[in-house]
Amino acid sequence: MVSKIIGTGSCPGDRVVANGDLAQIVETSDEWIYPRTGIKNRHLNTLSGTSGMAASAAKLACENGGIDPKELDLILLATSTPEYCFPNGACQVQEELGAVNAAAFDLSAACSGFIFALQTANSFIVSGSFKTILVIGADDLSKIIDWNDRKTCVLFGDGAGAAVVRASEEGVFSGIMKSDGSKGPVLSCLARSGGNFLTGKTPKMGYLSMDGQEVFKFAVKKVPECIEELLSGQGIRKEEIRYYILHQANERIIEAAARRLKEPMEKFPMNIREYGNTSAATVPILLDELNREGKLIRGDKLVLAGFGAGLTWGAAVLEW
Ligand code: COA
Repeated sequence: MVSKIIGTGSCPGDRVVANGDLAQIVETSDEWIYPRTGIKNRHLNTLSGTSGMAASAAKLACENGGIDPKELDLILLATSTPEYCFPNGACQVQEELGAVNAAAFDLSAACSGFIFALQTANSFIVSGSFKTILVIGADDLSKIIDWNDRKTCVLFGDGAGAAVVRASEEGVFSGIMKSDGSKGPVLSCLARSGGNFLTGKTPKMGYLSMDGQEVFKFAVKKVPECIEELLSGQGIRKEEIRYYILHQANERIIEAAARRLKEPMEKFPMNIREYGNTSAATVPILLDELNREGKLIRGDKLVLAGFGAGLTWGAAVLEW
């Protein structure tokens, strides 16, 4: 058995915020942001939490895949921004969908989350444990961003993307996941911590902080390396790949990855201009857009790749 994606859906944040809007709150400009990142707009979420966006994307994915949510065996939500420590966001999605037969849990791997969750789903499918799995990447990053920090606040947006994955007798699915915990401080956000009656301290919470240049160097090296390793390990030639759907963190990172892979930019679709970096949601939102635009043909081979805090990174190759 192998995983096949049978439906996709997405739900960006409800409010469009342009570069010029951010120039009203921090010292920045479209002239600084756009050439360095490729970002013009981001969509921030003002209506629902992470689970609300995740559930909206999930409903669309089920409709697109032609399945009743009751057919789902498992819901995997990749997120770094759940509304609650518990219940997990996946259980909230389960309730919204009425997916009464599914087990549900969250998975945390920051911007690599969807790639890690998809590979986790595939392992359950290959093992025969589950047949139909909903994989969601959703983040409400605007709630953990320091809106006074121009170095980070211009980069991110909110959103959710989902894919329904089903066991199939035929197809291709293979993946790689990597982590380097020694680089944790490069991109981090403190959760509620440090306070109980013994420490006498009040709990602390943090904002996202990042060493942008370190992340940039890491991404342009590790992402192409990992894709090369994946494809050569599977005996798949780059010419066979229809699209490389990479984490949308920075247009220049994607261009550098394309150069290193010696592949043409036409194979690297992008939507970062409109959404910015939505963390675990970038890859499934882009996948959903390509699907709905009719750009994916059954039999196409796709590479999906992500990178982010942890540090974590990974890639998967699959047949559409
Ligand atoms: N508007 C205007 N000026 C800004 C700014 C902004 N939004 N952000 C930073 N600057 C300023 C800095 O203060 C600095 O000024 P100084 O030289 O007077 O101190 C200058 O611009 C250069 O800052 P620097 O951080 O060195 O810029 P950079 O060329 O490295 O670009 C990033 C910054 C964030 C665009 C780039 O490092 C990057 O994209 N890194 C990857 C980040 C990423 O993808 N993270 C998510 C991973 S999942």
